[in-house]
Amino acid sequence: MPPKSVLVTGTTSGVGRALLEHYARRGVRVISVNRRRVPELEAEYPSARFESVDVRAREDVRRLVHRLAEAGELPDVFIFNAGINRVDNDESFELTAYQAVLDTNLFGVLNFIQPLTELAAFAGSRHLIAISSMVNYVGNPYGLGYTTSKRALTTCFETWSHMYTGTDLVFQRVMLGPVRTAIYTMEGRLPPWMVWIKNLFSASPEGTARAVARLALTRSRKVFYPWRALPLYFAMWLLLTLVPGFFRGQKTLAGRARRAAGPGRDPAREG
Ligand SMILES: NC(=O)c1ccc[n+]([C@@H]2O[C@H](COP(=O)([O-])OP(=O)(O)OC[C@H]3O[C@@H](n4cnc5c(N)ncnc54)[C@H](OP(=O)(O)O)[C@@H]3O)[C@@H](O)[C@H]2O)c1
Repeated sequence: MPPKSVLVTGTTSGVGRALLEHYARRGVRVISVNRRRVPELEAEYPSARFESVDVRAREDVRRLVHRLAEAGELPDVFIFNAGINRVDNDESFELTAYQAVLDTNLFGVLNFIQPLTELAAFAGSRHLIAISSMVNYVGNPYGLGYTTSKRALTTCFETWSHMYTGTDLVFQRVMLGPVRTAIYTMEGRLPPWMVWIKNLFSASPEGTARAVARLALTRSRKVFYPWRALPLYFAMWLLLTLVPGFFRGQKTLAGRARRAAGPGRDPAREG
C-alpha cells in the first residue's frame, strides 16, 4: 500500500524533485523541505506542503519535527535526499569545503534523527530512508568530503537497521550510482573519459524516484540503483587497488589551474 504522507528533503531539483513529482501524482501528501523557496515549484504542486528549512540548521530541523509531531502530521516515510558535492581535485586539502559537505550530507540527516527518535509519538510504522552512494564502497578521489559523508551515513543507517530490527522503525539506504542531475553535471570538471563512462551507466531522476518509492514499500535494508552502474564502481575499485597512484596526476589539475590564474583567484569556484 502506498504511504499516506512522505517527507522529502531537497526537492528543488534532481532526485528530490522527481520524488515530489512521483508521490504528488499518486495522491500521496508530500512535505517538501528545502533551504529556499521556489514559487514556481510550489505553484506546480499545490497539494504539497513546503517547509523552508536548511537541513544544516539543527534547531530549525528540531522545531519542524516537533511541529509536525504536535499536529499529528509526522509522515510515514522520511526520505533524506538533500546533498551537495564539492569536486576536490586540488592537491591541497580544504577543510572548509570538506566540512560544508559533511554538514549537509551527514549532519543534515542526523539533525532529523535525534529529535525523531526522542519523540514518544514516533512509535508506529515509519520508514527512514537515506540517499547514499555507491561511491561509499570505492572512495572518490575527486570528492573526499562526499565519500566520507556517504560512508558515515551508510554506516549509521546500517547500524540502526540492525538495532531496530523487529520494530516498526525501518531504516533503509539507497546506494545510488550516477544519476543525471545537477550534482552529476557539476562533475563536468572531471576528466572527459570519466564523464563519458558515467554517462553510459547513469540513470534518470525519474527512474531513481521509482526505485526509492519501491524500496519504501518493503522492509529491505538497502537497494543498489541502477544495477548497471555496479561494474563501473567495481572497475574503479580495481584500478585504485591494482594501480597505485592511478589518480595522482589528476588530483593536481585544479591546483595547477589555480596557480596559473594567479593569487586570489580560484577557477574551480568560478566555473
Ligand atoms: N546524481 C548522482 O549522480 C548521485 C549519485 C549518488 C548519490 N546521489 C545523492 O542523491 C541526492 C540528491 O542529489 P541530486 O543528484 O538530485 O542533486 P541535486 O539536483 O543537486 O539536488 C540536491 C538537492 O539538495 C538540496 N540541498 C542542498 N543543500 C541543502 C540544505 N542545506 N538544506 C536543504 N536542501 C539542500 C538542493 O537544494 P538547492 O536547490 O537549494 O541547492 C537540491 O534540492 C544527494 O544526497 C546525492 O548525494 C546523487
